[in-house]
Amino acid sequence: MLTGKHIIVTAGPTHEPIDPVRYIANRSSGKQGFAIAGALAALGARVTLIAGPVTLSTPPGVDRIDVETALEMSTAVDAALPADAAVMVAAVADWRVAPSPQKIKKGANGPPILHLVENPDILAALARNPRRPRLVVGFAAETEHVVDHARAKLARKGADWIVANDVSGDVMGGDANTVHIVSTDGVESWDKLPKGDVATRLAGRIAAALD
Ligand code: C5P
Repeated sequence: MLTGKHIIVTAGPTHEPIDPVRYIANRSSGKQGFAIAGALAALGARVTLIAGPVTLSTPPGVDRIDVETALEMSTAVDAALPADAAVMVAAVADWRVAPSPQKIKKGANGPPILHLVENPDILAALARNPRRPRLVVGFAAETEHVVDHARAKLARKGADWIVANDVSGDVMGGDANTVHIVSTDGVESWDKLPKGDVATRLAGRIAAALD
């Protein structure tokens, strides 16, 4: 059980405005992150779900904070500390632009040039934060060399576990997921499972790790 534990979950995409009507985004339905938040709450955790723009209903027992951009998500994660664990499932946009206050008009000057600025890596920053949760879990969406890339990501981000998912099929927006849990202890590969079952198993593993 996770009674008395506080867990932060990030989920969904972020939207980075270009002007008042346009944005840059990543493809993410938020389904896996919302399912994980719900499964952790079902085990008794106090869950803060920091959600990018998605059209999903909040799982029972979960405190939800809606954000739009990576910078807002980063601020919300900091504000939610301290926590016993964090599960970073959001597909955060890697770049933002300095948005135009007015709608950019199509015109004789041709297409506008977007100057991209790197967004903060919320997971890597949290893993190196003095108030780091005891267990930091990241996700990695990969289309090839899934486990090798996850191992590299584990070290680069300073996470305890990386849940690597193979997105070469119809995972994005779909209802099933094939994941590998990569940690310094090794790799655990799970069969293709409905996202709800991935969430339940992962919540059980988190409960065991925090025990
Ligand atoms: O580097 P990449 O985007 O593949 O890493 C994915 C993992 O890092 C996910 O857990 C995601 O939530 C997290 N991430 C983040 N902030 C970013 C980029 C990724 O928290 N700016």
